[in-house]
Amino acid sequence: MAVLLFSMVCGVYIFSICTTQMAYFRDSNLLKLKQIQKQCPASGIEISETAYLHFPEPKTFSRQECACNAVKFFAIISMQRSGSGWFETLLNSHENVSSNGEIFGARDRRRNLSVIYGIMDKVYNLDWYSSASKNECSAAVGFKWMLNQGLTEYHEGIAEYFKKRGVHAIYLFRRNHLRRMISLIANVYDKDAKLLNGTHKSHVHSPQEAQVLASYKPSINTTRLVPNLKKEEQTTARALEYFKTTRHIVLYCEDVVRNHTKLIDVQDFLKLPHRNLSSHQVKIHSGSLSTQIKNGEDVQRALKGTPYEHFLNSDY
Ligand SMILES: *[C@@H]1O[C@H](CO)[C@@H](O)[C@H](O)[C@H]1NC(C)=O
Ligand SMILES: *[C@@H]1O[C@H](CO)[C@@H](O)[C@H](O)[C@H]1NC(C)=O
Ligand SMILES: *[C@@H]1O[C@H](CO)[C@@H](O)[C@H](O)[C@H]1NC(C)=O
Ligand SMILES: *[C@@H]1O[C@H](CO)[C@@H](O)[C@H](O)[C@H]1NC(C)=O
Ligand SMILES: *[C@@H]1O[C@H](CO)[C@@H](O)[C@H](O)[C@H]1NC(C)=O
Ligand SMILES: *[C@@H]1O[C@H](CO)[C@@H](O)[C@H](O)[C@H]1NC(C)=O
Repeated sequence: MAVLLFSMVCGVYIFSICTTQMAYFRDSNLLKLKQIQKQCPASGIEISETAYLHFPEPKTFSRQECACNAVKFFAIISMQRSGSGWFETLLNSHENVSSNGEIFGARDRRRNLSVIYGIMDKVYNLDWYSSASKNECSAAVGFKWMLNQGLTEYHEGIAEYFKKRGVHAIYLFRRNHLRRMISLIANVYDKDAKLLNGTHKSHVHSPQEAQVLASYKPSINTTRLVPNLKKEEQTTARALEYFKTTRHIVLYCEDVVRNHTKLIDVQDFLKLPHRNLSSHQVKIHSGSLSTQIKNGEDVQRALKGTPYEHFLNSDY
């Protein structure tokens, strides 16, 4: 009888502990919401959004009258020569957006995951200083991250961080991989040739400059062209897997050029007030592709009958 009684008491005790713990986990989002509302009353936030809203307290300045404006975190995930520079200038033309460029371009900033985490903490705490740093009223802060800047290497740890801190991933890719390839080759060539009066430029701001840079017509080695295009397609597909469980949006440069409602989509994604975004950058390579390469006919022959044939004829 005594043993039976003892086991019953134990059972009830364990059960009660379990239920309180479960309730704790369920309520932790609610708790955070209450905390936010205590600091910043009447903010009208939904529970499902709390993981994505932040109220950073920067070490380097005070957010003053905007201390109660929520800040969203984002990262633009892209590849070189995919229009991400242009896209970033568009975003930065919004008074409430601060996108800090390719902060992981420098090798020593991506030595290991803890270094990467430390830098992201600094950026998202609004303490990163760059020409794009905005004032205390930033409502979205982020940076640009190329796949080959440690992102592919550490993607698991980075996805964990994104999920934990509610970072919005903005994928920006290019549909036409052949155009990206030409742009890459031309940009590498200009690093040495420095066509614009002896300075190397990756982005230009006038049609005259664009014309000078586009005057170089690369020739494309067609022996490995199709496998290379295929590889590129696979790289993009793999990257789309990395953050598929975090909040994300997928954009293609060509669509943003053609359809300006895509920029509204981005602002909605980050829950920003709508603005007309603008950029002073000018596209370097425009017009038909076959006029931009030296051996257009060879390329046409190599791509004939492959899924990439349309790359030669599309407008962007
Ligand atoms: C990461 O790199 C930094 C700087 O080199 C070093 O101090 C730190 O111990 C490294 N952390 C890990 C986990 O390797
Ligand atoms: C955007 O910035 C303006 C002025 O800089 C500020 O008044 C406004 O509250 C900000 N909006 C958000 C959503 O933070
Ligand atoms: C390059 O030089 C030409 C004349 O030599 C000049 O007209 C042009 O403004 C210069 N461009 C830049 C970007 O300095
Ligand atoms: C093209 O690439 C192949 C191997 O990738 C190389 O063997 C060949 O020499 C290259 N052709 C030219 C013209 O550079
Ligand atoms: C432009 O984009 C919006 C939203 O992304 C879409 O609904 C619309 O159909 C697009 N328009 C065209 C012409 O593609
Ligand atoms: C953007 O520009 C269009 C036309 O120039 C104008 O009708 C619209 O009100 C502007 N929107 C914003 C949010 O400023």
